[in-house]
Parts: sequence; C-alpha cells; structure tokens
Amino acid sequence: MTESDVTSQQHDAMQRAARDHLWMHFARHPASGDGGEIPVIVRGEGPYVYDSAGRRYLDGLAGLFTVQAGHGREELAQAAAKQAAELAYFPIWSYAHPKAVELAERLAALAPGDLNRVFFTTGGGDAVESAWKLAKHYFKLTGKPAKHKVISRAVAYHGTPHGALSITGLPGLKAPYEPLVPSGFRVPNTNIYRAAEHRDDPEAFGRWAADRIEEVIEFEGADTVAAVFLEPVQNAGGCFPPPPGYFERVREICDRHDVLLVSDEVICAFGRLGTMFGAQRFGYTPDIITFAKGVTSGYAPLGGMLVADRLFEPFRGGTEMFAHGYTFGGHPVSAAVALANLDLFEREDLTGHVLRNRDAFRSTLERLRDLPIVGDVRGDGYFYGIELVKDQATRETFDDQESERLLRGFLDKALYEAGLYCRADDRGDPVVQLAPPLICDQGHFEEIEQILRSVLQEAWTRL
Ligand SMILES: Cc1ncc(COP(=O)(O)O)c(C=O)c1O
Repeated sequence: MTESDVTSQQHDAMQRAARDHLWMHFARHPASGDGGEIPVIVRGEGPYVYDSAGRRYLDGLAGLFTVQAGHGREELAQAAAKQAAELAYFPIWSYAHPKAVELAERLAALAPGDLNRVFFTTGGGDAVESAWKLAKHYFKLTGKPAKHKVISRAVAYHGTPHGALSITGLPGLKAPYEPLVPSGFRVPNTNIYRAAEHRDDPEAFGRWAADRIEEVIEFEGADTVAAVFLEPVQNAGGCFPPPPGYFERVREICDRHDVLLVSDEVICAFGRLGTMFGAQRFGYTPDIITFAKGVTSGYAPLGGMLVADRLFEPFRGGTEMFAHGYTFGGHPVSAAVALANLDLFEREDLTGHVLRNRDAFRSTLERLRDLPIVGDVRGDGYFYGIELVKDQATRETFDDQESERLLRGFLDKALYEAGLYCRADDRGDPVVQLAPPLICDQGHFEEIEQILRSVLQEAWTRL
C-alpha cells in the first residue's frame, strides 16, 4: 500500500463528499441515492493512473490531452516546489519574474516564423479569448477598425469563455449561454470521411474546404473580418487532420485579405503531433499560436499565445497597452514547471520518440478496422479518433438514442472498467478519442488495441 492508496472507509467517504459537493466539469451528475460510482483518481505513474480502489488504468487521453511526459515525474514536482519556495507568486502586470522571461524567450525560439512575443494566460480558453481581443485591438490601432469578425470550423471546440465559446462550433454547448458574443462565423471542417464532395480526392477536398473560408470573408467583407481560428488537427468530431495543401491555401487566403491566421494548438502543440508546434507538422506559419495543456505536461496550469512581431508593433514604445491580463497568467510556479518540462522534452527527445513511433501507433489502431463497428481510424502523431458506425459500407451513423445507449450507457464505462481511460465523444458523430502520454510505446499501443477490441466487440453485440 502506498501513501496515496486509500482504505475502503476513505473511499466511501470520498464518494459521498464528491456526490454532495463536487461540481464536475462537462458532467452529468448522478441523483443522490443513485448507485453509480464517481471515478476518483488518486495517483499516476508513467502512462498509468490508479483509482481510489487501487485499480490501474492506461491513461489513453493523457488526462485531457495534457500529460505529455507521463505521470509521477519527480523533476516536474521538484521544479514546482523549488519555485514556490523562492517566489511563489508575482504578477506580470508591468513587472516580470525570471521564469516568465526565460520561458517566453524559450518558447519564442521554438516557435515557427517570427512568433517572438508571448502573452501568458492560465489555460486554453483564455488564450483563445486573448487572441480574438488582440486581433480586434491590433486592427483598431492600424487603421482597420471595422475588422472584428472571426471564422472557425463546424464542431470545433475552442473553450468556454463567452468569446471563445462564440468561436466554438458546437451549437449544443452554446445554446444555454446565448446570446453570445456576436460576429463568429462557421465554415466546414476537414471531415473527409463524411465529405459530400471530393471524398476520394484529398487535394481537391482541401481546396474546397479552404475556399469556404474565402467565401465567408468575401461575403462578410474582408474589411470586417479579423481572424480565422483553426486547430492543426481538429479534435472535436474526432481528429480531422488537414488534407494536403489545406493550410497552404488558408495562409494564402488570409494574406490576400489581411486576416490573421490563429493556430489553436491547445492540444496539438508540445509533441502531440511529433513537433513542438502543430503548425510545424504541416509547414505553415500562423500569426498567432494559442497553447496550454502540454506546455507543463499538466503539472501546473498555464496557457498563452505566441504572437508575430508585427502584431506587437503598435504596442511597442508608445502609450498603447493591450488592456488585458490575468492574475495568474504566467504564474511563476507554472512557468518553472514549463521550463523543466521543456528540459525533459529535450533530454528524452519526446518529439523524436513520437516521430519514431507514430506509424506503429497508427498501424496498431488500424487493425481495429476489421471490427464492423469501426468506420474510420484517423489522426496524426499520438492523436487519434476512431469513428463508430452502424454500417461500415454505407457509413451509416447512430441516431441520438443509439448514441446515448452506446456511448453513455455502455462504452465509456466499459472501457474504463477494462482498464483504459479515454473518451467516447458524440459532439460530432460518435468517436473514441485517443491521445496517450508521449512516452508510450508499442506495448502500450497493444494494450489500447486489445482493450478497445474486446469492448467494441461487446458493444456490437449489444446493438
Ligand atoms: C483546441 C482547444 N482550444 C481551447 C481549449 C480550451 O482550453 P481550456 O480548457 O484550458 O480553457 C481546448 C480544450 O480542450 C481545446 O481543445
């Protein structure tokens, strides 16, 4: 028994307290007296986590696309403790502290192009919010004050603050909070599996999808459009990689209309796709990168945006300030952890590890295509979605009731009980999402495949 193992009395007490007091995020809560257990995770080690009953799970989602370096990394914990003892907190409001300075310099050196300025936030939604505000402010200061609208893709998730939620393309998440910030416009995503046109021609599909962005810019008027927000690989809906040529064309369109290209890399940065930033994986240079999650491997909260030099120019040396900030933005402890995390990335060559193993991850997951319920296996690096269908040949998907029964009623729980923590998501068509810690190798891929295989087989018999 380790220190973090809990007795059965502690376990019961924790269940009661969780039920009575904890408001879990994006979660349905059981009615009081309702039998189901709330999973309580008490510790982690490498790619595994352990619950309060002592059971072990492979962390197939790196927590929430976050724990790149794996769990239980002593050196990241030490970095946090050392910084808390030295300078636990100081704001970066008109002041600096060494770790924020060092981290900004280091991220700028890693980023593509001239994205040399770092604005820290506390997480991803705040980073997206900041990017929209910066885009509006920048154009107001540079003689194009009407540029304020933003374009993003259907089903994409960009966070929960009101602005970021306006950019999010998931109507179900937005409805309870309407009216949101006006001026968000949606274009199709790059779901080629369900494309109505060019399904068999990825280049043509990429051109078609990119051109939808130009269509909206022209329809709305380029003088009113400030920015396009795109993930390198879109998460929500189940991992939509960009078709070949897509980002190249989007970049051209943005340049033609003086619209900022924001690469929302809250998931895709820090090795998830085998490169430090997702834009590098697909060879484009955005104007802004938003990041969070993996920058600290989740050992402390941090987010931010990396900004191209020209966007900072109006704020340099004059009287203008970006009237925006967060008490905990660039927190010293988080910045210290991020630096230690980047050291670890270098020492263990985590991006190289992903590049060396990504084909094996793909081919191991591809084996699941022999199951009739598996319609598509797609993704990149260590980031995959497995779309579930009723009929492989026709790609027929599940209706709402079936989805409810399959995902919420069975899959999530069955995968977890079988020892795999991951997510069955139905924000688009039903998918199982996978994004394991970057330290995983073939042994872990096999474990993921075997658990998925047996649970998906069982799911099929229940349909
Ligand atoms: C692409 C993207 N943007 C923004 C966010 C919001 O980040 P956070 O939950 O840190 O606010 C997320 C969260 O998963 C995300 O995936």
